[in-house]
Amino acid sequence: MKINGETTPPGDKSISHRAFMFGALARGTTAIEGALESRDVQSTREAMRSLGAAIGKKGDTWVVEGGSLREPVSVIDAGNSGTTARLISGICAGIDGVTTLTGDSSLVCRPMGRVIEPLEKMGARFLARQGRYLPLAIHGGTLKGISYGLKVASAQVKSALLLAGLSARGTTTVQEPTRSRDHTERMLAHFGVKLAIKENTISLTGPASLEAREVRVPGDPSSAAFPAVWAAATPGSQVLIRNVCMNPTRTGFMNVLKRMGAPVSVENIREQAGEPVGDLLVEGGALQATTIEGEEIPSLIDEIPILVVAACLAQGRTIIRDAAELRVKETDRIAAMVRGLSHLGVRVEELPDGLIIDGPIRPRSGAVETFSDHRIAMSFHILALACDIEVCLDDTACVDISYPGFFTAMERLR
Ligand code: S3P
Repeated sequence: MKINGETTPPGDKSISHRAFMFGALARGTTAIEGALESRDVQSTREAMRSLGAAIGKKGDTWVVEGGSLREPVSVIDAGNSGTTARLISGICAGIDGVTTLTGDSSLVCRPMGRVIEPLEKMGARFLARQGRYLPLAIHGGTLKGISYGLKVASAQVKSALLLAGLSARGTTTVQEPTRSRDHTERMLAHFGVKLAIKENTISLTGPASLEAREVRVPGDPSSAAFPAVWAAATPGSQVLIRNVCMNPTRTGFMNVLKRMGAPVSVENIREQAGEPVGDLLVEGGALQATTIEGEEIPSLIDEIPILVVAACLAQGRTIIRDAAELRVKETDRIAAMVRGLSHLGVRVEELPDGLIIDGPIRPRSGAVETFSDHRIAMSFHILALACDIEVCLDDTACVDISYPGFFTAMERLR
């Protein structure tokens, strides 16, 4: 089915989390416009309230009074949100006292050792289930800056260390194997923190304080990817997706769609709170297979499920590799895509770190397990729309994690 029209995705999830966290850390009043109104961001908001920030809403603008965070009196529940759990671990490592953190049935299975290990080196103490999972308790206090090389490119781990570095004595340096999304670096600079960035190495010297600022959150490119792939894969389609964050550490999927032959262009580029923003125009055509691997992976890690859908509809063999991180997201997204596609009669090859898809493959109607993963649910809904089939999802409410109103927004484009 063709798609035609215009849509505006909800606020960027990564930037929304950081706006509430940084507003809570900053002295003064931070006003946040365009924040994503979703369950994940709600988890961050509640966590920052537990840590002592006053957060309210005036009309459509969130207002955060921050600057004096303290040990919470109750357990912080990060819900489904890895960003909340990991970044808050970094913040709480620098707060005198004990913070206890937990999450939902998905989050308690996701790796926390990757933040525990370096934060312990900085001087925080942890008590965690099996040493590396939620629930966990952090005994925070005086930290010292360290130099740390990340084993995987992870914006969440990098951000946890930089946030801990704000309250540490001395310089904290984080080196990444490949550049991951850099919203933390951009927003820290927006809040007046000095950072030294050289290729994949980021340093800041603590103690450093944040000054309250206004944040206008741009639309989420990860949400824009769903209508973008629908349009790209259906000849005769055209969609204009307005107000999308065009940060190059997030726009990998646009490069992939271009490589697959889709006319993709960006108009009206501007800047908001240190982030480039623009309008994305995508037209439909005959997609060609491609290889997605290496340094490109972190810039499209959350878009791989919907790029698998694009690959199913493209001509030829698409190979996705170097994406083992997908196995530790909200669910194992490689396994979830392979399994969902098999329920629709589509065979793809599962690799330890990716997939091989020989397209075009036309799926039949059927029922798909989402594993309550928002991006799996939305990817299969787009596959259904693009192929004119019925796909029955076992959980549709999970899309609220990142894209409340997704089904209605897509309906309007038909
Ligand atoms: C995020 C970073 C990414 C991404 C996640 C959000 C962030 O995870 O998958 O959805 O806001 O920093 P990793 O940093 O673990 O790769």
